[in-house]
Amino acid sequence: MTAKIEFEGKQYELPVVLGSENEYGIDISSLRGTSGGLITLDRGFKNTGSCESAITFLDGEKGILRYRGYSIEELADNASFLEVAYLLIFGELPTETELEKFHSDIKKESLVDEEMKKILDGFPRSAHPMGVVSSLTSALVAFNPTTVDVRSEEAMYKSIVKLLAKFPVLCAWAMRKNTGQPLDYGDTSLGYVDNILKMMFKKANEEYKVNPVVSSALNKLLILHADHEQNCSTSTVRIVGSSHAGLFVSISAGVSALWGPLHGGANQAVIEMLEAIKEDGGDTKKYMAKAKDKEDPFRLMGFGHRVYKNFDPRARIIKKSADEVLTDLGIEDPVLGIAKGLEKEALEDQYFVDRKLYPNVDFYSGIIYRALGIPTEMFTVMFALGRLPGWISQWKEMRQQKEPIGRPRQIYTGANHRAFVPLNER
Ligand code: CMC
Repeated sequence: MTAKIEFEGKQYELPVVLGSENEYGIDISSLRGTSGGLITLDRGFKNTGSCESAITFLDGEKGILRYRGYSIEELADNASFLEVAYLLIFGELPTETELEKFHSDIKKESLVDEEMKKILDGFPRSAHPMGVVSSLTSALVAFNPTTVDVRSEEAMYKSIVKLLAKFPVLCAWAMRKNTGQPLDYGDTSLGYVDNILKMMFKKANEEYKVNPVVSSALNKLLILHADHEQNCSTSTVRIVGSSHAGLFVSISAGVSALWGPLHGGANQAVIEMLEAIKEDGGDTKKYMAKAKDKEDPFRLMGFGHRVYKNFDPRARIIKKSADEVLTDLGIEDPVLGIAKGLEKEALEDQYFVDRKLYPNVDFYSGIIYRALGIPTEMFTVMFALGRLPGWISQWKEMRQQKEPIGRPRQIYTGANHRAFVPLNER
């Protein structure tokens, strides 16, 4: 199968790649060479595939999301987050023995060097936890230098395990710093998710008992966030990693990319928006009008998606889960009502219908995080915790496929050659 491009009377024949779900992609990698400089231009990469990947499939028109072929609905209902992490990273669901070994390897690596505390100490208490987590993830390299050179399978496995073990510690520490609590070292007798909860919530003078409702809700949220193919942060991880920078700094870059309010930072922005609407008397119509006003920079946070043009399957699961978790925990949160009201209005509004704007994963997730007692500034860190196995699997795939360094082209639109004018003559 081929496609043809015609330019200035010449035809260029390009191979077409077919994916396992019958998606076609025109492979333009030979175009610049054979045409003497012709490139394609695609702002925001709306139509550009950056790689071939066997990890996550999503169909934005049909609202389908699958990890390694398994539907997100089935995984969210039946799997543990660690099983899903294994699935994403190694391609298959683990057997009991494989999962036990994986978890045991992680537990052995679950302490971070005590000197890391000095770096954490250097941050002001008011520092946003996303900045702290990104910096500390980068700083981990200094204490684990062997994780950078991963030419053997064994070296790659070791750095993956180290990161899965230490990243939750850093996230929990960022929260404890932010909330003025002493640091916690976790408990290796607990499951992976329960240990995260313990590291976040254990009070220095009380025993910590895991609440199964909280544990199961967090498990589900982490699974729903675990991968989402070539989004902004994942593409960042792959492109940083393509220079053969190590895993930890590639993930640190991914954390920074995720922080933005158009990406993972939207979950914090949604709660802040819902709170602002509540404070403003709950007038959702006013905010709907603002979102539609092209002169107003306000956007309805938690709405719209680059790929989903029907519905976001994660949002459906999270909305149902928000109802269940709040009921189980006996919490009444007025912003849940505001969120549901906004969703109803948006789904009936021509502006949103025309642009195919639906609630995304971030619209209801913050309401659950809040019910679990997680501070607002930690919401995007929770997204990062969930996305970690996805980033790792994409980075591993990129290295194993021996992808070339990521280096896009451009169309230059600046000044043509001009002579230098000395300072005193300008
Ligand atoms: N509120 C109001 N209008 C919107 C919104 C919104 N949330 N999202 C998109 N639009 C409009 C936009 O103004 C544009 O209108 P027009 O065609 O008249 O110029 C049209 O819809 C298309 O928007 P776009 O910005 O070109 O679409 P995109 O694919 O580049 O952006 C997005 C996708 C997610 C960045 C965007 O929908 C947005 O900013 N949403 C709010 C932030 C948000 O919730 N982000 C979380 C995304 S899901 C979690 C994750 O994986 O990151």
